[in-house]
Amino acid sequence: MNETRLRVLSALADGPVSGPALADELDVSRAAVWKHVEALREAGFEVVSDDGGYALGAMPPLHELAIALHLDAPFAVESHDSIDSTNRRGRELAESGASDVAVVADEQTGGRGRLDRAWSSPSGGVYLSLVVRPDVPMRDAPLFTLAAAVAAARAAREQGVDARIKWPNDVVVPRDGTSYDKLSGILTEMQGEADRIGWLVVGVGTNAEATADELPEGATSVRAETGGVDRRAFAQRLLAEFDALRSDLDSVVPAWRDLALTLGQRVRVETTDGDVVGEAVDVDRPGTLVVRRDDGEAVRVSAGDCEH
Ligand code: BTN
Repeated sequence: MNETRLRVLSALADGPVSGPALADELDVSRAAVWKHVEALREAGFEVVSDDGGYALGAMPPLHELAIALHLDAPFAVESHDSIDSTNRRGRELAESGASDVAVVADEQTGGRGRLDRAWSSPSGGVYLSLVVRPDVPMRDAPLFTLAAAVAAARAAREQGVDARIKWPNDVVVPRDGTSYDKLSGILTEMQGEADRIGWLVVGVGTNAEATADELPEGATSVRAETGGVDRRAFAQRLLAEFDALRSDLDSVVPAWRDLALTLGQRVRVETTDGDVVGEAVDVDRPGTLVVRRDDGEAVRVSAGDCEH
């Protein structure tokens, strides 16, 4: 990311500011200021100029500088108009040693979902992968997926969506009775040893701009729920919430419980050892679902496809 350009953007956001004042403040030439302002305009930033100087108008919502501006989390941001998969790019960055990077895209041409499914990723989404290297044992890895679900749900709630979480990590909007439509899905990939995670790539895909008639059955989007969406605010809030949760891992499961749609519901969980059917009564660290079967026995499920 171009740090000087981000400083120019920040000064414009606080503007209006004159070209000479900007050059002085950033300790660069006036020609350099002009070059950065032009580059910002070419990237889609609205920079208005009048007698008072330059000021910032509308921003391209997922541009890396727009997300980095006033971001309340220590993530470097890399954004793409279109990419095959932000998780694939996240893995590449992780394998080259990067950490605390958010890869963001408007569109994916090869988005991947859980269980090796394709993840439809048309333009207008927020497809985001976080590369992190937490110093914790591998058994705590699911906490980061739960944290991402909480972060995405909170970010959607800030936009006015009644977002809840379906175990283990789908962000959904409840409908009448027990049904729901899916807003976000999460795919976490990792590498490491039992005693220590090497890296995690936590990918969150959210339907954002799609209108109701563009969405498949069973899916919803922020726009379909509320009539509008601020993708920049959504991405920034998601990153800030994720950062706060990863810094306090004890807070993750209670935060997840607060937003859970699954708890108290009758569920069927398909696991590799067969189906578990009963009432979902709790979630324990690091994300284990506790199901009370009809015979009264409590069964603990750490992975599976959950229906309710
Ligand atoms: C699922 O519900 O199956 C998980 C979907 C995860 C999709 C996201 S979009 C951003 C990141 N990049 C990918 O290719 N997948 C994840």
